[in-house]
Amino acid sequence: MENIKSLNKEIFVDSEEISQIVTRLAERINNDYKDKDPVFVVVLNGAFMFAADLLKQIKVLSKITFIKLASYTSDKSSGTVKQLIGLNENLKGKDVVIIEDIVDTGLTMQSLRKQLLALDVNSLEIAVLMFKPHKFQCNYPIKYIGKEIEDPFIVGYGFDLDGYYRNLPAIYQVKE
Ligand code: IMP
Repeated sequence: MENIKSLNKEIFVDSEEISQIVTRLAERINNDYKDKDPVFVVVLNGAFMFAADLLKQIKVLSKITFIKLASYTSDKSSGTVKQLIGLNENLKGKDVVIIEDIVDTGLTMQSLRKQLLALDVNSLEIAVLMFKPHKFQCNYPIKYIGKEIEDPFIVGYGFDLDGYYRNLPAIYQVKE
């Protein structure tokens, strides 16, 4: 706890830049979905602040639903699997947009994507605030990317370290 409290961090993306990024993404989504009836699937906990700001700027008639991903190890051969919990919307035939905080290795999103595609959706796109292209180990498309970053560990604006710092209004880079 002491280390967490005295965390050495410096501003990485300030509130003004976040706001510009979010507005730009919202404009693209509004344009792409203007004749559609999308469902936004917000991945908790990390995406809560990004999703709130983004969705306030979405003008198309849409539904919003929230999910969580729980890691569990099913057996030795399959390793860690992310189980989707909390989905209470029927996504069959729907145009779905996943809203996530960050794609790092991409494995979390890959697992989620597969589970949503299996629900027979009409289309599936991904909106992420931050993307670490150098860490990405997958090859699915990410249509809406807020900002590409190298590999700093970030906190704030939904991003956490052991559950802390999610409430900060800007994004900070954790220093060694
Ligand atoms: P992935 O499966 O490697 O893409 O990891 C994705 C998840 O790791 C995200 O949903 C975050 O919860 C977490 N994560 C990855 N990088 C960071 C970071 O820099 N700060 C906070 N959480 C992160």
